[in-house]
Amino acid sequence: MSLTKTAATLAALFALSIGLPATAADGDPAAGKVKAYNCLGCHGIPGYHNVYPTYKVPRLGGQHAAYLESALKAYRSGARSHPTMQAQGGSLSDQDIADISAWFASAPQHEDDTAVVVGGDAAKGKELAATCTACHGPTGAADNDQYPIIAGQYGDYLARTLEGYKNGRRNNAIMKGFASNLSKQDMKDLAAWFTQQESPLYVPGLPK
Ligand code: HEC
Ligand code: HEC
Repeated sequence: MSLTKTAATLAALFALSIGLPATAADGDPAAGKVKAYNCLGCHGIPGYHNVYPTYKVPRLGGQHAAYLESALKAYRSGARSHPTMQAQGGSLSDQDIADISAWFASAPQHEDDTAVVVGGDAAKGKELAATCTACHGPTGAADNDQYPIIAGQYGDYLARTLEGYKNGRRNNAIMKGFASNLSKQDMKDLAAWFTQQESPLYVPGLPK
């Protein structure tokens, strides 16, 4: 046995013997690909809409895995309410959530020519966005995986989400603070700005 192999074996044995806990990084994208198959019925179709009310289902491809995990756990616990997503995510185990999140973060990209719908004043939105950049980055595509990428997300989803933080449908202390000062028009303006920014987000799909 070579010296490096011996060292690796010892390290593995050591990790076993002290029982290192599984971390969020343990998501297996290959397993996640299989588990995420049904999710693509909505999330794998460019421009696909939720109905009553109508807004597009969010783009998940390229999103931070850590954020996807926390979103799925929020649906599971009820901290975030949406009947369809609670039904979809309610019975997933922590391992399923880690696997699925790892796959979406790196999934193949679906062709997506959904028109960018602005529906607000992007110039005003840019001014308002000055309060958002500390966390979400100058254009909403912060590398920090504590904060979701909002650049290039569908605008109607962004506006709907901000409203949800304000009215309590979506429960997050930090974002509630920021959203509660915003009018409906402010939310549309912010969404108009962020949806037009260059982004790593995309609609995921299975390779043909
Ligand atoms: C019937 C359509 C549908 C299916 C199937 C579906 N979703 Fe969703 N998903 C939605 C909608 C609509 C939303 C936005 C809900 C909201 O406003 O909170 C959403 C939101 C999400 C979000 C939050 C994204 C963000 O930016 O916060 C994640 C993560 C997610 N879905 C993952 C999944 C996974 C994983 C599956 C499969 C186990 C799945 N979805 C199946 C419709 C669907
Ligand atoms: C102090 C840090 C911080 C600031 C400043 C901040 N956010 Fe957030 N934002 C977060 C965190 C953390 C989350 C994830 C919360 C959750 O899990 O629901 C989030 C989530 C979001 C989401 C949901 C994304 C999705 O995929 O569903 C939107 C939209 C958003 N923020 C927009 C904004 C806007 C617009 C502003 C400025 C008015 C702003 N944020 C300011 C930390 C911040």
